[in-house]
Amino acid sequence: MEYGIHSRTLFFFFFFFSLLYTTTAFNLTTLRFDEAYSPLFSDFNIQRSPDDKTVRLLLNRFSGSGIISSDYYNYGFFSASIKLPAEYTAGIVVAFYTSNVDTFERNHDELDIEFMGNVKGKPWRFQTNMYGNGSTSRGREERYRLWFDPSKDSHRYSILWTPKNTIFYVDEVPIREIVRNTAMGGDYPSKPMSLYATIWDASTWATNGGKVKVDYKYEPFVSEFKDLVLEGCIVDPIEQISSTNCTDRIATLLAKEYSTITPEGRKSMKWFREKYIYYSSCYDNIRYPVPPPECVVVPSEREMFQNSGRLREKLKFGGSNRRHRRGRRSRQPRKVAATGRPRSCYVKWPRKCCMCNMYN
Ligand SMILES: *[C@@H]1O[C@H](CO)[C@@H](O)[C@H](O)[C@H]1NC(C)=O
Ligand SMILES: *[C@@H]1O[C@H](CO)[C@@H](O)[C@H](O)[C@H]1NC(C)=O
Ligand SMILES: *[C@@H]1O[C@H](CO)[C@@H](O)[C@H](O)[C@H]1NC(C)=O
Repeated sequence: MEYGIHSRTLFFFFFFFSLLYTTTAFNLTTLRFDEAYSPLFSDFNIQRSPDDKTVRLLLNRFSGSGIISSDYYNYGFFSASIKLPAEYTAGIVVAFYTSNVDTFERNHDELDIEFMGNVKGKPWRFQTNMYGNGSTSRGREERYRLWFDPSKDSHRYSILWTPKNTIFYVDEVPIREIVRNTAMGGDYPSKPMSLYATIWDASTWATNGGKVKVDYKYEPFVSEFKDLVLEGCIVDPIEQISSTNCTDRIATLLAKEYSTITPEGRKSMKWFREKYIYYSSCYDNIRYPVPPPECVVVPSEREMFQNSGRLREKLKFGGSNRRHRRGRRSRQPRKVAATGRPRSCYVKWPRKCCMCNMYN
């Protein structure tokens, strides 16, 4: 028996060792903030480092804050090293996502990584999601924990979006892949999107289904973004694809190392999903008696979940693992509309945005 436990420990040791040493870091070109980003809302809560390679987004009792890519991308790779606020972070959401809701209000596309804060001593959790062509009533959430404390060090989080598939990465570990198929129709994002990073007060839903609110005794809450990467085909969202031929840029994107999951990558993905996922819309048979068409039922995953898409009781780990909120929640783009820059300015002169009066 003891020998069994010991060998399992050894196994995990070697597994981690091989995980760390066989997945080499992506070869990425990082950008300064002013090369590719603009403030989105609450300038007073955005702090840029002297070299402009690191940006801190603050949340305090007055406001959260956010940044946006200065351009729209028709497919791309969106990535940043992110360090989350420490200590008491209940009710807080730090979001890293692509969207085009400002241009396509009724039929927007979106890809999300959203970190959800927690009370002191309990871990951050996060979710990934996808919406296409206004499919806001068909959330495709998955929720997870992490294998490290995301408030201690920076880790790279990435979204790869191609015409074939979407892959979410944590460092070099692919944690979720959505392979596009024809049955998904417009639910697969296919219009140009911008990249957003925001921190905001999501007291109504982020922690234990809204039971625990942001406590401003701990303000300011600081999230840090650095080593920013934006790769893909830059387009004008209005003239869209007709004016820009993205064929070559998409081929370049598809040839990158992060566009192909290697056999080692598949192993890491399986490891992550068996250990850290705690909700999957693909296994939520109450919400979706017929799973969304892109769902691939993995037997080893299926048996982990109840019909509600949540983990079976005996598989639950520390940290609370509460109700999954159904339906559309109110999102920060609404706040953006209230405080954000004039749309006409945004669309016509994206790079000059910051000269427009954000507070008029
Ligand atoms: C990394 O990418 C750059 C530019 O895209 C390229 O010139 C360089 O050869 C690449 N390095 C490796 C090790 O692949
Ligand atoms: C997207 O939505 C628009 C407006 O609702 C609709 O006209 C169009 O056919 C949809 N596109 C796809 C690919 O489903
Ligand atoms: C776009 O470019 C590719 C190769 O660069 C070419 O084969 C294709 O015909 C072009 N498409 C359009 C619509 O111009």
